[in-house]
Amino acid sequence: MVPLADGSQWPALGLGTWRYGETAGHRAAEVRALRLALECGYRLIDTAEMYGEGGAEAVIGEALAGAMADRVVRRDDILVVSKVYPHNAGRTAMRKACEASLKRLGLHRLDLYLLHWPGNVPLAETVAAFEDLIQRGHIARWGVSNFDTGDLLELAALPGGSACAANQVYLSLRERGPEFDLLPWQQDRSMPLMAYSPIDQGALAGHEALARVARRHAATPVQVALSALLMLPGVIVIPKSSNPARLRENWGAGALRLTAEDRADLDGAFPPPSRKRPLAML
Ligand SMILES: NC(=O)c1ccc[n+]([C@@H]2O[C@H](COP(=O)([O-])OP(=O)(O)OC[C@H]3O[C@@H](n4cnc5c(N)ncnc54)[C@H](OP(=O)(O)O)[C@@H]3O)[C@@H](O)[C@H]2O)c1
Repeated sequence: MVPLADGSQWPALGLGTWRYGETAGHRAAEVRALRLALECGYRLIDTAEMYGEGGAEAVIGEALAGAMADRVVRRDDILVVSKVYPHNAGRTAMRKACEASLKRLGLHRLDLYLLHWPGNVPLAETVAAFEDLIQRGHIARWGVSNFDTGDLLELAALPGGSACAANQVYLSLRERGPEFDLLPWQQDRSMPLMAYSPIDQGALAGHEALARVARRHAATPVQVALSALLMLPGVIVIPKSSNPARLRENWGAGALRLTAEDRADLDGAFPPPSRKRPLAML
């Protein structure tokens, strides 16, 4: 589990949903995949108003309604994270965007609402808009995404800015830049770093160095890639899959324990950063 500054404990492994809800013909299969994810044990779902322009949230809403009706999960068992477009990050637009997300998800409250990436609305106004949504009971907490260390410093200096609960960024074995200074900064403040594209959108599945480590554990390369990130304190990893076998495979990464030898081999193949690099973004 990963602690937040407010004392809550979040699962270190969740489910991403980018590319869900984009094609009407895939909807039934995606609802089934989400249901399976909940049955496997996933309890954190990451989405955004951007994904399928609301389509992903609608798929999640349908899957959650079914799973709750069948008592697979209760609302309080799950954590739902969504994101607001930067152009909707002003006071009035954010309230409308959030209410639309809640309606599609069939929920009264989001557990975490993130600014998807830095935009043109002044950050102070965005913070005020988030606080307004907390007052209304629409969201439990707020955070940001694609913020580098300098952006977080700017945010923390604003009134109410230090309430930022999480920052979601691109972090994978191939993209380890955030480990240099962003992750330590967030760890010092119990602000989880949510690692997106943790398997480089599937590209790490065929990596030979991962396959070598995987063979020692009867695991898969993707499980090793996810496990390496899960070992970092304060990191929440959100791989996406809508494929039943891969959903199960990814969930299995939570049980894998890498050894010091494994980690040394991974550091050889994917060297950790030795200097600050600008944040990469997908
Ligand atoms: N905040 C942001 O700006 C931002 C940006 C990017 C992503 N995200 C979030 O982070 C989540 C994860 O990132 P991502 O979707 O970009 O990439 P990812 O999780 O690294 O990879 C997902 C891709 O890999 C495939 N895959 C999944 N498990 C696999 C496995 N075991 N073996 C082989 N292939 C596998 C998936 O296909 P199948 O579905 O067919 O399995 C999909 O094509 C997103 O879904 C989204 O929720 C946020």
